[in-house]
Amino acid sequence: MGVIDLPYTRSIADETDPVFERVEHIIPRVEWPLHAPYVAAIHRLKRERNAVILAHNYQVPEIFYTVADIVGDSLALAMKAAETQADVIVLCGVHFMAETAKLVNPDKTVLVPDLRAGCSLAESITAADVRLLRESYPGTPVVTYVNTSAEVKAESDVCVTSGNAVQIVEALGVPRVIFLPDEYLAKYVASKTRVEIVAWKGHCEVHERFTGADVRRFREGDPSLIVLAHPECPPDVLAEADYVGSTQGMTEYVEKLAEGDPSREVGSGARVLMMTECSMADNVSGRYPRVEFVRPCNLCPHMKRNTLPKVLHSLQAMEFEVTIAPEIARRARRAVERMLEFSRQPRD
Ligand code: 13P
Ligand code: SF4
Repeated sequence: MGVIDLPYTRSIADETDPVFERVEHIIPRVEWPLHAPYVAAIHRLKRERNAVILAHNYQVPEIFYTVADIVGDSLALAMKAAETQADVIVLCGVHFMAETAKLVNPDKTVLVPDLRAGCSLAESITAADVRLLRESYPGTPVVTYVNTSAEVKAESDVCVTSGNAVQIVEALGVPRVIFLPDEYLAKYVASKTRVEIVAWKGHCEVHERFTGADVRRFREGDPSLIVLAHPECPPDVLAEADYVGSTQGMTEYVEKLAEGDPSREVGSGARVLMMTECSMADNVSGRYPRVEFVRPCNLCPHMKRNTLPKVLHSLQAMEFEVTIAPEIARRARRAVERMLEFSRQPRD
């Protein structure tokens, strides 16, 4: 699909100025004429199609802040997708997230702006690999990270995200689980539970590049730096972190800092290092401009395939539709719904 060039007219400016006010501290004024015509056209089409846009926390600010209706981590997007009344869902994230939205909404149209937005974790394992593992560990439940294809989910007992993995592994009440496919998330879960974890060797191509030495270098210049890390990072990074959690968990941590959480001795003057994808700090800083972010930038090329022109094309052409073979969908849905049931239960 070629880039459509839309003009920035007086009426577009009037229509989109209130949106720009929300993002003026993260999107420079000179860039707005490039985005605004798409923002206006996307809003019009969303109304016409009764569509909703779900955007992951790693989406660029011009998607995250100006056209998305719901933003969050993988778990929040799955839960909100299950609740939406819209006829059409445009998922700005990666393909497995759109498949999850489709699994919980079999009768709705789920679109992705770019079908090539994949994930190195989802690529690291196939359904045949899971069947072989089951044969090697008979009777051991398969707990599968949502960063997998529907085919892999269909071979699984329950799905998890980084936001609920420990809770769900514990809730199963078994001595051992097969945990797929992220080796580092599996190690992190193993450090938090007595349940034995059989892991796979999948890695996130973005998070595996961070090292503990990176964190120590940043800390040398600022010993009071607060380090937040995603559990897809290697163990030496997690060992250096003040907090480990999903992208939603990190956002909530910053929210508490910005509000001057009385349990910590820092207020909104805090400096935060986020060991995760680049757009995360941009998006969180949009909400908490007084928190200062140190930005080591590892970019997810898959997340970055989504752009405003592609979102517009998606709604205009109703492309690219996510479909899942019915028999795969039936079995994969069970694993996702089981996760959602666990997540809806109140925690102790
Ligand atoms: P979250 O569920 O924490 O948002 O993570 C998704 C992901 O792809 C991280 O790389
Ligand atoms: Fe996959 Fe890593 Fe990109 Fe997340 S950041 S979508 S885990 S490749």
